[in-house]
Amino acid sequence: MNEKAPQPDPGLIMKLSTAYWDSQVFLTANRIGVFEYLADRDKTVEDIAHALDTHVRPTQLMLNACTALGLLEKTEQGFRNSEIAKVFLLPGKPTYMGNAAKYSDDLYNTWGKLEQALRDDKPMLEASQYLGDDEERTRHFVYAMHNRALGTAHALTGMLNLAGRRQVLDIGGGPGTYSCLLAAQYPDVHCKVMDLPRIVAHAKDIIASMGQQERVQATAGDYHLDTFPQGNDVVIISGVFHRETQQMCQTLIEKAHASLVSGGLLIISDVFTDKGGTSPVFATLFSLNMLLTAENGGIHEDADVSLWMQKAGFAEIVCTPFPQPMPHRLIQGVKLND
Ligand SMILES: C[S@@+](CC[C@H](N)C(=O)[O-])C[C@H]1O[C@@H](n2cnc3c(N)ncnc32)[C@H](O)[C@@H]1O
Repeated sequence: MNEKAPQPDPGLIMKLSTAYWDSQVFLTANRIGVFEYLADRDKTVEDIAHALDTHVRPTQLMLNACTALGLLEKTEQGFRNSEIAKVFLLPGKPTYMGNAAKYSDDLYNTWGKLEQALRDDKPMLEASQYLGDDEERTRHFVYAMHNRALGTAHALTGMLNLAGRRQVLDIGGGPGTYSCLLAAQYPDVHCKVMDLPRIVAHAKDIIASMGQQERVQATAGDYHLDTFPQGNDVVIISGVFHRETQQMCQTLIEKAHASLVSGGLLIISDVFTDKGGTSPVFATLFSLNMLLTAENGGIHEDADVSLWMQKAGFAEIVCTPFPQPMPHRLIQGVKLND
């Protein structure tokens, strides 16, 4: 008998061929202010088109697609935000993720150059653009980090125990969000956030907006070039390794080690892959995102980081995944007594 093997389902190919349609509908709606305009009330298509300076017929099609994707709901009158949009896409809410989406939106054209990046082996967006040179991109980058950090903060702070620790150094601390939340949780903790000058300018505003300017200090520094301030009980390196080579990650671990007191804690938080580099899916895609946007961008394996920490003189090394759906993992280790 010559039985035919069942044909594989073509659904995956169909989904992957058009996945950017979904993204572009969401990112465009977010950019032109659909969710903000609707806030907590429903509006007619004509009202929405008038307020957003768009034409009625294409706006109707766009709002239909937003509804199908779960971002809006259709009402007797017109359209209103879905529950998800109300929680995550209204500016001013602590759960707001619209800035993180704006940063992804900024990278849409960069992702269109993936083939070029493979051929040239270089990023398609100069990192300096979003690290200071382009004011708008830099702002989106810093506030996207802030949004994301607010989202992951409860998980992170819940996974840490800083009881008895006082001096925290936050390397590449970006907006300073994690430091502010730790300062809020631990009244004896003082944090130093070290980052590039144009990032620090925004960080100071964010730290003040979180009311932590007394105990969280943002200072300009380059972690490649500068020695780390000494005498820290804790060093945090979060979201930094994915833009650095293996060699530089090891150097940063050594610098952290030198700056910690005996018994001090090193906390590394990032997106990491499992052994072999092919899972989880998000980490493999984020690796390409970093290839496109940073000179040495790419994701590391968490097992390698643990090994580097051990080599540098850390013990009690533990790797813990953040709760789903957050893709991050936390690696902690304690500096052995000198
Ligand atoms: C993805 S962000 C992580 C921010 C924050 N730690 C967090 O986890 O939300 C990486 C940070 O590293 C900073 N950075 C990149 N190169 C740097 C350098 N040479 N010296 C200091 N900071 C740098 C960036 O400005 C950015 O704030």
